[in-house]
Amino acid sequence: MRSLSLLILIYDAIADETFVPRTLVETDDIPLNGEDSTDAGAALVKSGAYAELRQAAQTTSATLELRANAALTYLLEGDLTTADIVLSHLARWCRTKWNKTLPDNDEIAWLHAPCGAVKKNLFWTLETRETHFQLWDLQEEIMDTYKARLRAALRGVGTSEGKALSVYDVGLGDAVCKHRTLQEQIQNPCSPTMHGSAATTLKVEDAYLDLLRRGLTNFLHADWQNMDWRPYLEEEGLTHDAKACSVQELSHVPPAQACEQPWGPAWRAAGVSGLASGKEGEEAERQRRRFQTTLAVADLVHLEVVVDTILTDNVKGDFMEAGVFRGGACIMLRGLLAAKRDVHRRVYVADSFAGIPPPRRAIEDVSTGKVLDPELDPTFDWVDRFVAGEDLVRYNFRRYGLLDDRVRFLRGFFNESLPPVFGSTSTERPVTINNAPTLALLRIDADAYDGVLDALEGAYHRLSPGGFVIIDDWHLGGARAAVHAFRRRFSIKGPIRSSPSDLVLTCSTDLTAVASCATGRALLAQSKAYTVTVLPHVAYWRKGWDEPGP
Ligand SMILES: *[C@@H]1O[C@H](CO)[C@@H](O)[C@H](O)[C@H]1NC(C)=O
Ligand SMILES: *[C@@H]1O[C@H](CO)[C@@H](O)[C@H](O)[C@H]1NC(C)=O
Repeated sequence: MRSLSLLILIYDAIADETFVPRTLVETDDIPLNGEDSTDAGAALVKSGAYAELRQAAQTTSATLELRANAALTYLLEGDLTTADIVLSHLARWCRTKWNKTLPDNDEIAWLHAPCGAVKKNLFWTLETRETHFQLWDLQEEIMDTYKARLRAALRGVGTSEGKALSVYDVGLGDAVCKHRTLQEQIQNPCSPTMHGSAATTLKVEDAYLDLLRRGLTNFLHADWQNMDWRPYLEEEGLTHDAKACSVQELSHVPPAQACEQPWGPAWRAAGVSGLASGKEGEEAERQRRRFQTTLAVADLVHLEVVVDTILTDNVKGDFMEAGVFRGGACIMLRGLLAAKRDVHRRVYVADSFAGIPPPRRAIEDVSTGKVLDPELDPTFDWVDRFVAGEDLVRYNFRRYGLLDDRVRFLRGFFNESLPPVFGSTSTERPVTINNAPTLALLRIDADAYDGVLDALEGAYHRLSPGGFVIIDDWHLGGARAAVHAFRRRFSIKGPIRSSPSDLVLTCSTDLTAVASCATGRALLAQSKAYTVTVLPHVAYWRKGWDEPGP
């Protein structure tokens, strides 16, 4: 508390008029939830009019959501220090207002959207400042809050929700929701045409990629069957007929409309690796095998946005995924290159093809050098090691007609498979290789501390400036710890951003409209969009143009 006030003082002293959000950090009486302002700055965040928004937020009558949105702009610019100061202040105000300590488990505070957004943004700031990655590993609290929030959301969608945005809501500055293939959802999420716009798109390229996404995520052959939230749906009288939507039924009769899951950014294959789905039997087993990626549609669209940026900016290099499971993301990357008529770049498919190995080294806190609790990396005792053999991955590539000599398989644990190809920056074993490939995109889906760190040590030095690193498992403590350790070691400062993925339930901003139809309500129930407690699964950063390249 003392150090915070001191920071605010110093901050005010050095600040200039255009930049300093004086009232953001000084006002004690903040009007709440601006009913008078229709969008309280959300549109300004989305349109990138940060200066205008900060100006608007500097009056004493500025609402909390306007201030929260203004604070978010600092975060989006990578100015974590200012973001931290402003957000801490707003969070302190929220805490006083609700007579609670943050972080806490107070439903009202959590549910109040402006305070929720403040908290989410503050947590993101802390997370990306390296030291607080344990904050989130409070599973029970998270689940309780999640459920409470879900129930409240189902009761009164839109009525108590403000419009303050969190860093998760904006992600890539809306690039995913603005994407051509998701446009239609924005208009009316409950319209019968919400399954998308591939047929009306003008470009064959878009239609092909849209179809590829529908195939890889098994949308083509799956229907509503994610039962995770059934108890909460039932509590709200929102049951749907599970039997009619079961896999067995669907193979014989045309599914009822109610079984049809809406196509959109939140869609992902159910069952994940299969072990967690709780379904048994041969049919369930077949069902599990029908998808090639566990990524949500938004993740795949994000991948396209990233690839487009790489091509537009002419960032040199190939693409690699380290940790591929059934190969879906790599197939998507090869398909993207084909659709965009790139004739040179390769896709490296790096995997042990034997699942996640047991932990090899201790996790260290990058600030103190202290060894952390191995349980910080939840993968250490996972029963499911996400095993998929190389044969299966090749088979999947072939089925999409995308296996050629531009797809290169790198078999082995990353600490052993990457150094002979790329060299290594590992301090223990630095290796240089002549003519090592250059990368423009490094996607890491290794789940565990060892794998993520090995992949970064083995390939980041070959990433071109302006290239992208995508971390699939930001929600896992071990993956975050590895990222922080590596970034600290090489003084990497570029802001880490969240990819709009499983936290994006719909591209509609009108939640009342979403809740006006059964599929929309089911989507709300399934989505993590309401939670303020779960970190996004996917985060990314862009390698600085001034960082050393290959
Ligand atoms: C919460 O704080 C307000 C003033 O800050 C006070 O009036 C109120 O009594 C407090 N409520 C509780 C439950 O302590
Ligand atoms: C590489 O990692 C694997 C899996 O963690 C481990 O079994 C192996 O011993 C490591 N190899 C070297 C050379 O460190």
